[in-house]
Amino acid sequence: MATTFVPLSELSLFPATPDQVLESRRRHAPQWCRKLSIEEYLLRDQLMDGHEHASDNKFITWVLAPRANPTTLDFMCSCETFRRTAVVAHPSDPSGAKQVTAYAIASVFTPPEKRKKGYAQYMMRLLHWVVAPRSALPVFPDGWGSPTEVPEGLGLQSAQFSVLYSDVGKEFYQSCGPIAEPGGGWLASGAVETSWYADKAPSGTTTGPTSPHIWLSEDDAKHVWSLDVPFMRADISETAKSSGHTAFSFLPNKGVGAFVVQRTMSFTADDAPVLPLDTWGVLLLPSAVVGVDEVFADLDKQPTYATWTLDTSSESSRVLVTTRVRASRETLPGLLEVLVHFARKENIQKIEIWGLPETLQAAASESDWETSARTDHLSAFKWYGKEGENEVEWAFNEKYVLTFMASISQNLR
Ligand SMILES: CC(C)(COP(=O)(O)OP(=O)(O)OC[C@H]1O[C@@H](n2cnc3c(N)ncnc32)[C@H](O)[C@@H]1OP(=O)(O)O)[C@@H](O)C(=O)NCCC(=O)NCCS
Repeated sequence: MATTFVPLSELSLFPATPDQVLESRRRHAPQWCRKLSIEEYLLRDQLMDGHEHASDNKFITWVLAPRANPTTLDFMCSCETFRRTAVVAHPSDPSGAKQVTAYAIASVFTPPEKRKKGYAQYMMRLLHWVVAPRSALPVFPDGWGSPTEVPEGLGLQSAQFSVLYSDVGKEFYQSCGPIAEPGGGWLASGAVETSWYADKAPSGTTTGPTSPHIWLSEDDAKHVWSLDVPFMRADISETAKSSGHTAFSFLPNKGVGAFVVQRTMSFTADDAPVLPLDTWGVLLLPSAVVGVDEVFADLDKQPTYATWTLDTSSESSRVLVTTRVRASRETLPGLLEVLVHFARKENIQKIEIWGLPETLQAAASESDWETSARTDHLSAFKWYGKEGENEVEWAFNEKYVLTFMASISQNLR
């Protein structure tokens, strides 16, 4: 069905009404529901609206709609934003990492009959104007009509940076900056995975892993993420000092890491949500230490742990993707051994670790793990500070940051 082109100046970005939220989800459900029915897809999103990542208006669906009829269900396209706590450390600031606000963006969708009219690109350009402080942006472009009105009380225009994960290559989002001309948008960065494939690995021993460890439930994983925050803040300060670049990162607590776990939910026949695993992480135990809190008690003693989610969107394979990994060169082999043990036990065909630091990539390759550039879910960021994008560094660019999990990794062999 062809639709007529509406001039961009007659359109603006609006927070979706409840009916528009539902319409937006209905539109993208056939594309992204995979194993869920459309009804289950809608139910999952409705349930997750009540979770911590969305509380206090942190989650907003946006529509690009006519200024003359902002609540229409015939809007042009839509997307979602997640406001989150993040940290930034500057190399010249001895006071350490500072807490900031940042955004993650997801579910950019134009229905097929409205595509290729420039709507999605315009929506993404306007998005900078609602998430970033006015002071971080240039003059609002002539030809776009009056600037987008930003509703009060939603914590908007506060971002130090925003990120997204592109499944349409690097150029599309890179071209969507805050002005009408192409460029100045989200820069693809750090899309790297370190992987293990069951069919390529020796079948291993029947005995369990040698490193003492405790498995983590979802609640345990949430607790561990909170305990990891001071370590992450210290690491980010160190990264800024050693690299001479401003370092930034999201944090996995406050519902952020839990989002990618809950997103795996499916439903029983009577619509009760169920998760595909009971175990969502593992913590290695140095001997003589008994509990989780003791392992994180001393900032000078690095804990070793991994948390994960499961990508079940393929009929034929299950992929475990780590959400957070903390390990040293010395402890990584033991952690990988435990991960492989878990994968074999749970009939998982591939393990992906996103954003493993280079020194650890080398250690992983000694255990026959392969590091390669990701071809999908390309992480990309837009920085709203005074520094150039080459002067900043995204730390902990791992899967816990992800706002969206619909498609399975394409390079499962
Ligand atoms: C991607 C999408 C949002 C673009 O919406 P749109 O309103 O048609 O976008 P615009 O008209 O502003 O821009 C069109 C441009 O998008 C780019 N584009 C669209 N789909 C693309 C894809 N799969 N891969 C790479 N680039 C793509 C192209 O550069 C295209 O330009 P062209 O017409 O010269 O080929 C839309 O195609 C869509 O909803 N796709 C399905 C969902 C999806 O993949 N969303 C993105 C998730 S990261």
